Amino acid sequence: MKIFLDTADTTIIQEMKEMGLADGITTNPTLIAKTGRKFDEVIKDICAIIDGPINAEVTATTAEGILEEAREIRQWGEQIVIKIPMNREGLRAVWRLSEEGIPTTVTLIFSVPQAILAAKAGARYLCPFVGRLDDIASEGTNLLYDITTVLNQYPEWDCEVMAASIRHPLHVVDAARAGVDVITIPPKVIDQMLLHPLTDRGIEQFLKDAKLCYS
Ligand code: G3P
Repeated sequence: MKIFLDTADTTIIQEMKEMGLADGITTNPTLIAKTGRKFDEVIKDICAIIDGPINAEVTATTAEGILEEAREIRQWGEQIVIKIPMNREGLRAVWRLSEEGIPTTVTLIFSVPQAILAAKAGARYLCPFVGRLDDIASEGTNLLYDITTVLNQYPEWDCEVMAASIRHPLHVVDAARAGVDVITIPPKVIDQMLLHPLTDRGIEQFLKDAKLCYS
């Protein structure tokens, strides 16, 4: 299972890379806006740090517009994956880009039928949103199980399931149990995953005892 970081913050990306926690990156317009910088500058900076897949989201709403935007964005880095929202025009662009050998992520997936269509269109990554389903009282992690179950039966659909909209460590555990290929995790959740009070207490005790016997 790969871990992508769901952030556009280059300082955090560098720090997490040094812990081996950045197989790739996902961004979206909201995450880019939070940096207060321009989209192209941020993506180019991330490309200088990370060799793995970097998801950059298009904003055009027609297939032709998406294709034009995607080809421009891809010039910034060979490792860029074009992130495209799930809809009719998006899938037209996904199929065309897959024919050109340009990898895509279909984002904002909320159902198994949507995942099937995105896989069939030639998406490299399918991005179901867990937390946003929980927000509307629908079990987000069930969708992960359903999508992985379906896709495992069709290996000829050469795509990976990437759990997104991860809000807390239990989402990560559930996504891993569901057997997703990738989890894209916000840095705040990585921070939560690192912690356990028994670890802190254990370190404190060991350091105290070490004073008695380490030279
Ligand atoms: O990767 C998509 C993710 O950033 C969405 O997360 O918390 O805004 O639903 P959230």
